[in-house]
Amino acid sequence: MSTTAISTSTSQRKKVTTLSFRQKKERGELITMLTAYDYPTAMAMDKAGIDAILVGDSLAMVVLGYETTLPVTMDEMLHHARAVARGAKSALLVGDMPFMSYQTSIEKAMENAGRFLQQGGMDAVKLEGGRERADAVRAIVGAGIPVMAHIGLTPQSINQLGGFRAQGKTASAAKRLLEDAKILEDAGAFSIVLEAVPARLAEFISKQISIPTIGIGAGAGCDGQVLVTHDLLGLFDRFTPKFVKQYANFHDMMNKAFTEYIDDVETKKFPAVEHAIEMMDGEWDEFQRLTATEVE
Ligand code: KIV
Repeated sequence: MSTTAISTSTSQRKKVTTLSFRQKKERGELITMLTAYDYPTAMAMDKAGIDAILVGDSLAMVVLGYETTLPVTMDEMLHHARAVARGAKSALLVGDMPFMSYQTSIEKAMENAGRFLQQGGMDAVKLEGGRERADAVRAIVGAGIPVMAHIGLTPQSINQLGGFRAQGKTASAAKRLLEDAKILEDAGAFSIVLEAVPARLAEFISKQISIPTIGIGAGAGCDGQVLVTHDLLGLFDRFTPKFVKQYANFHDMMNKAFTEYIDDVETKKFPAVEHAIEMMDGEWDEFQRLTATEVE
């Protein structure tokens, strides 16, 4: 008797959770995270096997064209979060809480964190800041919402930091960052982004806490890495931070494609016959007969 094998396997990976994050750290496996702000990018990343997707407030700069991350609003973040959630089914989805969505009160922080899960389809939220955000982190986690913390260069505080500058370069600043990491771990954060801090400090912090650190400009000693996708793809040509590895130059590719399109249209190379929609001769003849009668 022949048996027909019916494959029950689907191409979809198992959903990544905050627990998977912790297990990866325990096993010494590195965590991968990238930013996404739209459906096709999220889908491509998910398919490639990324662990986590951050709908970062970098949206403000790399997609919306602002000079800083400060102007982006909750509603704008949610709009993009929903698109990403429609595209990625397996990666852990993290919504980045925008400027002033969590700083003014714990209640507001909880409410906006909740919106990312209820209205944005996210699995977790990220917020910037050290010990001064511990109460907000505790309250959000207490409401059942996983929180990724973010210390070092925190772009929402550039006016206080004096620009996009590396942090933790002096002994006392480094000690403060280590303390912040421990405080945020105690407050219940499931992971911490370390941005633009010395590599050896990031490695030291990573070893001192049990939750995974995700580095950006923080060297290879973190438990995972994140990059802003527009930097990685070379889509954002205003500036590229030193710590970025550019894997493609989409800006140049787009420029070439757009220039060729303009040229093709202007020289009538596009659309060609193969791009046209056909109509049966009989229908065309009938159409001509009908319109000829109307003209008469
Ligand atoms: O908004 C963002 O893209 C971020 C990453 C740089 C971690 O916060």
